Amino acid sequence: MMSNIKNPNTINQIYCGDCKFVMRHDLLERGIKVDLIYLDPPFFTGKVQKGIWLPGAMEVSFEDSKKFWGLKRYKSAPEWMKWIGTKRPEFAAYLYYMYERLEMCNRVLKKTGSIYLHCDYRASHYLKMIMDEIFDVENLQNEIIWQRTLGHHLATGMDVMTDTILFYTKNKEFIYNKQYQKLSKKELEKKFSYIEEETSRKFTHEKLEQASNVYSKGEVRIIQGKELTTDIGWRWTQQEFDRRLQKNPYVIFWTGTGKPRYKRYADEYKGRKVGNLWKDIFPLASRSKERLGYPTQKPLRLLERIVKTSSNPFDIILDPFCGCGTAIVAAYKLGRRWIGIDLNPKACEVMQKRFESEFALSPQIIYRDLEEISKLSPLQFEQWVNEFYGATKPKPDKGVDGITPSGIPIQTKTFKVKYDVIGAFLTCIEYHPKVPKPIKRGIIVSQKGFAESAISRVFEIQEKEDILIELITPENLLENS
Ligand SMILES: C[S@@+](CC[C@H](N)C(=O)[O-])C[C@H]1O[C@@H](n2cnc3c(N)ncnc32)[C@H](O)[C@@H]1O
Repeated sequence: MMSNIKNPNTINQIYCGDCKFVMRHDLLERGIKVDLIYLDPPFFTGKVQKGIWLPGAMEVSFEDSKKFWGLKRYKSAPEWMKWIGTKRPEFAAYLYYMYERLEMCNRVLKKTGSIYLHCDYRASHYLKMIMDEIFDVENLQNEIIWQRTLGHHLATGMDVMTDTILFYTKNKEFIYNKQYQKLSKKELEKKFSYIEEETSRKFTHEKLEQASNVYSKGEVRIIQGKELTTDIGWRWTQQEFDRRLQKNPYVIFWTGTGKPRYKRYADEYKGRKVGNLWKDIFPLASRSKERLGYPTQKPLRLLERIVKTSSNPFDIILDPFCGCGTAIVAAYKLGRRWIGIDLNPKACEVMQKRFESEFALSPQIIYRDLEEISKLSPLQFEQWVNEFYGATKPKPDKGVDGITPSGIPIQTKTFKVKYDVIGAFLTCIEYHPKVPKPIKRGIIVSQKGFAESAISRVFEIQEKEDILIELITPENLLENS
């Protein structure tokens, strides 16, 4: 395991850790705010997903959330969630777990930012209540229904063919770039079935009368020398007719009954405006080149659409549950900056390899999780601590694991430190040839914390010898990093 906790380059970065922790300590505390968040957290399935990498994180996060719910005893949950907790505690645990992380998302989102929460029918309604609570119901922009499969899998019962993506913004003003969906050749031929004789351009034609412009009912328009009136309302003013005809003298189509309509040309057509029903982005086929084998991988086109809609080049895109990194790959390809977080080290490695193979880039993984740190071997833990302090290990070490650039000696322990360890450390540093004298300070970092007796011993030493031994836990380091 590598750590790189002090790396200030927090943009274009893969973090391995709980997203709540990373958002608080690596983004918020360092003043990083993002333009767009896409999150695709584990769904509430109640079972562990299986796949090549067996993403235990999903299991852990779900189990953790159960414990969490028990520990917190519903204290800071919204009232309605507490009520659900009385009926379905496991589900309430999941909701609370999401609540805390979505709250953190809100805090790291810029004022003009947007957030897309990918979920499914099992929890979407409850997650919407959380989103309403955190982002405000006024900022709900849409509920996107993505048809993720063509269905017909179940022998009995109704196939689940869609996912739900809840789209909220932080405020009323936000980035929104209209997207268009390309039509198939067949659809285009059907839509643009006319050919303009003079130019051979393909076109379709649309109404020039429009009820919403009722104010112009009864008004006269002169169109190509013909004087016409309407009892519905005109789409354009006389100036607009004149302007359009000057630009293109063939723009009007006359029907057999002598009604004018205007032409829409195939060569100017951008596509069908994308609405909230997304049926044109297909799931990854089993043989798709894009498929990495990560069990919950989403198609790149889905993420490209979201990134294009709600961000501009150089904006920062955050995916706090990024799996094999589809959102951050989309962000990179579209010239945005990105931050991806995943609890599962395997997911982070897959992401790293994805960048290596697709873009010849090798983003470093920053490990930011207490649980990860608590599992480090003694040597890894020592390296991690030394990296944090920018310290080097002296040779021979003689009981000193690192010395900081300003000469403070460090000892690292992977067990709970008691009384006698403190005195032994003091002896080591007093006799160590590489520790600068006189000694004023020393640091002991323990993976498992300190017994009361260790704290008393520190007071004794401070009083008798005027040497301060700081007792540090990984939590302290992460809090202050
Ligand atoms: C549904 S997958 C995301 C898939 C992703 N959209 C893709 O296209 O690859 C959910 C991911 O969230 C991660 N995860 C679960 N709990 C987490 C947490 N608390 N913080 C960060 N990541 C977490 C899991 O390891 C898993 O990779």
